[in-house]
Amino acid sequence: MDYEAIFDYYKDEGIIGEAEMLLKTGKEAVVYRCSPGPKAASAAVAVKIYKEIEYRSFRNMTDYLDGRIGTMFRKRRDILHMYADPAAMQASWVWVEYEALKNLHAKALPVPQPYGSTGNSLAMQFIGDADEGGAPRLREVRLSADESRPLFEQLKLAIRDMLACDSIHGDLSPYNILYDEGKAVIIDLPQLVDARYHSQALPLLERDCVNVFHYFERHGFGDEYDAKAFANSLWEDYVINRLYA
Ligand SMILES: Nc1ncnc2c1ncn2[C@@H]1O[C@H](COP(=O)(O)OP(=O)(O)OP(=O)(O)O)[C@@H](O)[C@H]1O
Ligand SMILES: [Mg+2]
Repeated sequence: MDYEAIFDYYKDEGIIGEAEMLLKTGKEAVVYRCSPGPKAASAAVAVKIYKEIEYRSFRNMTDYLDGRIGTMFRKRRDILHMYADPAAMQASWVWVEYEALKNLHAKALPVPQPYGSTGNSLAMQFIGDADEGGAPRLREVRLSADESRPLFEQLKLAIRDMLACDSIHGDLSPYNILYDEGKAVIIDLPQLVDARYHSQALPLLERDCVNVFHYFERHGFGDEYDAKAFANSLWEDYVINRLYA
């Protein structure tokens, strides 16, 4: 689907009014700010359109399939199809992100509310002032200790609560966290991992924690905590809870 067709689809669905401005051209996607349609619950809508798969920094297929065979992809045919057809790969990528947003938003985790998706795009709640370029990424803001401490606590809880939903972000960092008036909002979830099935779940959880803790270390604290120890204690609780669920 080209951009016009995507916007037309969301208009017909009552999700957007008009596409207003191009917000960001990222590695893997472009993001537009749109006016809301009658079915959107926010003052603006973000439409994320994935680039053609061949232009993307495509991660190793084997890594991508880890933990998904037999769960997300039940048939051998679907897996072969992904190898053969980039559009199928793209659609699965978008599907993971859309399902993750739906699931996590329903459980009150700090992610944008999703409104709809197509094979190569998704529409969601726009984070930030509807008249401006969107909330800054955490990477771009310098916070005082008074601001950063509660944010650090929020993020630790969010990582824990995501894990309780069997979810590990897999690419969490200050680049994929928006700072919206004192609140952290986690975005960019196409590589989300199911903690029950991925062979590298704990190392991925550790890496997410290290990335987040590192940011807070540079804000003067966080070094009082050990990111890997934190990840391991979350993991232990998660495994025990699952065993005795
Ligand atoms: N719901 C949203 N509300 C406001 N801004 C958003 C939203 N979603 C994405 N953005 C903006 O678009 C940028 C790119 O989005 P995202 O990280 O999902 O895509 P990406 O292609 O992986 O980008 P990157 O390569 O920069 O990580 C974000 O850094 C953010 O600035
Ligand atoms: Mg990103």
